Amino acid sequence: MNEIEREVKATIKGIIDKRVKGMKAGEPNTDDLLGILLESNFKEIEQHGNKNFGTTIEEVIEESTTSVWIAGQEATSVWIVWTMILLGRHPDWQVRAREEVLQVFGDGMPEFDGLNRLKVTMILHKSLRLYSSASALRRTITTKTKLGELTLPAGVILYLPTILVYHVKEIWGEDAIEFKPERFSKCISTATKGQMAVFPFGAGSRICIGLNFAMIEAKMAMAMILQHFAFELSPLYTHAPQSVITMQP
Ligand code: HEM
Repeated sequence: MNEIEREVKATIKGIIDKRVKGMKAGEPNTDDLLGILLESNFKEIEQHGNKNFGTTIEEVIEESTTSVWIAGQEATSVWIVWTMILLGRHPDWQVRAREEVLQVFGDGMPEFDGLNRLKVTMILHKSLRLYSSASALRRTITTKTKLGELTLPAGVILYLPTILVYHVKEIWGEDAIEFKPERFSKCISTATKGQMAVFPFGAGSRICIGLNFAMIEAKMAMAMILQHFAFELSPLYTHAPQSVITMQP
């Protein structure tokens, strides 16, 4: 593990060093997350005239590891795997989703406008509710806070097991745990009867920055998988979801 961590960090540091060198040499900034992070960092250091401000390169490495490997790769890939498991279990939905993908794209490359119209979107919403990649949110209370009827003192760590909210029968009905993508055939607020009952990407000021990207990536992947493959669950599959940072099959 240590060796892998060293290797990952060295790789990212190599990318960052190259970018920093380029920026110092006056090369135009690449319009991506790392570019934005480094540019805002430079500005902050420049503004305060000292390196104690801004993010350290170690912090930039940590941010890149968290957002690219865990958030950007892991969360979306387990989401796709869960969706395949659900479609393996519900072949009728797999057939319907494939028919639609083939109708919209044929065997050509899926394109952006078509992706927005797919049934696979509601299937993805459904799998994210049943097996949410991020199954809980945590917050540390910094000042005494009133939350509904609760008064929470500073220092309390609030743990919000979102996955449980997604299974509450009072909101979702007696069939809460059943695979019924048609719940999401309209918009999400129709599915939740206007309640704040589904937020797999968080909410408010810390909402996931990769939300739209992840949605397009997952739709694109599912559309291409459906175009080229039919799949079913292995008879050896044992259903045992486990939360190890993300919700693992
Ligand atoms: C299925 C895919 C994904 C899920 C379910 C997901 C879920 C979440 C959730 C629940 C949060 C809020 C955490 C909190 O409030 O404490 C979050 C934040 C974040 N996500 Fe995602 N995410 C996904 C994909 C991505 C992708 C693709 C990226 C980057 C390319 C990304 C980058 C981030 C970052 C950087 C934050 C922190 C934002 C902040 O604190 O201001 N995520 N994500």
